[in-house]
Amino acid sequence: MAEPPLAIDSLHLRLAAANGLIRRRRSIKPEQMSDEAVDPMIVGNILENANWAPTHGMTQPWRFKIYEEDGREKLAEALQRIYRETTPKSGFKQDKYEGIRSKIFAAPVVIVICLARQESGVIPEVEEVAAVACAVQNMHLTASAVGLAAYWSSPAFVYTDEMKAFLRLKKGDLCLGLFYLGWPKDKENWPKGTRSPIQEKLEWFE
Ligand SMILES: Cc1cc2nc3c(=O)[nH]c(=O)nc-3n(C[C@H](O)[C@H](O)[C@H](O)COP(=O)(O)O)c2cc1C
Repeated sequence: MAEPPLAIDSLHLRLAAANGLIRRRRSIKPEQMSDEAVDPMIVGNILENANWAPTHGMTQPWRFKIYEEDGREKLAEALQRIYRETTPKSGFKQDKYEGIRSKIFAAPVVIVICLARQESGVIPEVEEVAAVACAVQNMHLTASAVGLAAYWSSPAFVYTDEMKAFLRLKKGDLCLGLFYLGWPKDKENWPKGTRSPIQEKLEWFE
């Protein structure tokens, strides 16, 4: 049955709810997360909502590898090794190398964002990347809705063959980064965001 038309107040309430959710979403880095565990029910909801992203041709290309607790050891080890192997000696930074590990252990949940490419290749890769990004946005919005800190990180080495080999990705599949999740250390001061005005990014044709 069709929903009844919205009364003006409930229209404004619904808009306010959407605006609040979208505009309050912030990237909060693992260094600002506490080690308080995240309830598996919440992680489950976050992943389930990822699955409701739009997808051209219903390819549903998003794939996630979730590292928690001791599982993070395997990820930290691999990321440090891959950073070392894929960075020219001149660009290697010891503090970055050590930071990789401390970031992984600063977040109770680390989700590796992957893309499973259709063998047919019918849907252009750019659209599959867009669908995965929509899935990540769903995760990020769900996290923000409950006050969880989240952060999409994409260090250069996530795009390397070494990273794909570690994740056992198939030819054509991609890794698009790491999604860190945890409770913010400071729950009282949610960070403020900034954007230049939308008017600067619009062209109207009437
Ligand atoms: C695809 C993607 C990759 C990102 N990778 C990084 C990253 O590697 N390092 C980083 O500091 N932020 C990264 N970010 C997060 C942005 O820095 C962040 O969204 C931006 O600063 C705006 O802040 P907000 O998310 O709080 O609005 C990434 C965001 C997206 C969408």
